Amino acid sequence: MAGRSLCTGSLFNKFLSKNLSSPACVKLGSTWSNVEMGPPDAILGITEAFKKDSSPTKINLGVGAYRDDNGKPFVLECVKRAEQKMLQEKLDKEYAPISGTADFCLESAKLAFGENSVVIKEGRNMTVQGVSGTGSLRLGAAFFSKFYSKSKDFWIPTPSWGNHTPIFKHAGLDVKSYKYYDASTCGFDFQGAMEDISKIPEGSVIVLHACAHNPTGVDPKPEHWKEMSSLIKKRNLFPFFDMAYQGFASGDIDKDAFALRLFIEDGHEVALAQSYAKNMGLYGERAGAFTIVAGSKEEADRNMSQMKIIIRGMYSSPPIHGASIVTRVLTSPELRKLWLGEVKGMADRIITMREKLVAGLAKEGSSRNWQHITDQIGMFCFTGLKTDQVERLTKDFSIYLTKDGRISVAGVSSSNVDYLARAMHEVTK
Ligand SMILES: Cc1ncc(COP(=O)(O)O)c(C=O)c1O
Repeated sequence: MAGRSLCTGSLFNKFLSKNLSSPACVKLGSTWSNVEMGPPDAILGITEAFKKDSSPTKINLGVGAYRDDNGKPFVLECVKRAEQKMLQEKLDKEYAPISGTADFCLESAKLAFGENSVVIKEGRNMTVQGVSGTGSLRLGAAFFSKFYSKSKDFWIPTPSWGNHTPIFKHAGLDVKSYKYYDASTCGFDFQGAMEDISKIPEGSVIVLHACAHNPTGVDPKPEHWKEMSSLIKKRNLFPFFDMAYQGFASGDIDKDAFALRLFIEDGHEVALAQSYAKNMGLYGERAGAFTIVAGSKEEADRNMSQMKIIIRGMYSSPPIHGASIVTRVLTSPELRKLWLGEVKGMADRIITMREKLVAGLAKEGSSRNWQHITDQIGMFCFTGLKTDQVERLTKDFSIYLTKDGRISVAGVSSSNVDYLARAMHEVTK
């Protein structure tokens, strides 16, 4: 019977098509018959439901990409100009080096650690191009899995970006979590985090969101970071930074790199994944970087030699277009200035929408304390709405968001913020 085809018309197939939502032709015992249908992506599901909704006032607050005040995707002017330059330069399509172009890697490291960083001066950074933030994290995970001998435990905050667990697990690492978010204040649980971190076994890796924590929008304050840095040092943990939003959080690239640079000042060796998806709007171009700061240049060179072997076996060499854009924007004084203005513009629009939402809720007569909306930072806001309130927002107001009450503030605009405030007040009365 193995491999025999039972196609439309057979009695068995008629039975199947009645009882299963299965195709018209089924092969018994075929190679993939044991593969179960995986669950759909939660965020994509929200977008699908949003598209089907015919309400003229519907809002999609599930998307993780910036939208302008008209709700449209935004291509930065500095990016358009860099691309025009590239067209004029009549570039070829040769392969990039395995680790990405040297310029791209150097500029990425300078952006993260600072122009005059001692790490770069001493050549202690091994920086390679990654396939955006996700791919950079995955490279880091592969490197740690193979060469970090102290532990296979990666400690992530609760909650964390939904993809952290699959990325690290996929590389054979064990994912554990430490306290981070305090639902009673919609803020940072500093005590809880410190307590948990002080119990993490020595040598483990601790994953830190450098700024604009996703999904909560809650960041530790500078004084919190300082205490966390000393504790992490004392516990001999390895800090692994995920910096997907540099510049996008506060509008200032240096301010958003505060935590990372503090850890360097404090003498940590760190790992870092960077992404240009949000801060340069290069979502689909997949430009990012992964760095390990080692104890010496010699160590960094050895790490680089091994990292190249990992990359070669994964995808040979990275894509060139997005990285060429980034390099041009960061190295041309004119484009860089334009970019800094544009990234601030995006951050400011988000900050303004947070303020307008809080003002709108007060205007509607809400007696709740919504201050966390403006205290939180970056693209996402943990509103504190409960699952049933989220369901009402969707059912009664055609407002789409994740069940945990997270909204993408990028989906809020001058024209829908009042409606959102009214709806949020209605479901929280
Ligand atoms: C915390 C965090 N890390 C990494 C990423 C990676 O994104 P990308 O692969 O699009 O650069 C994201 C994107 O949402 C994120 O929020």
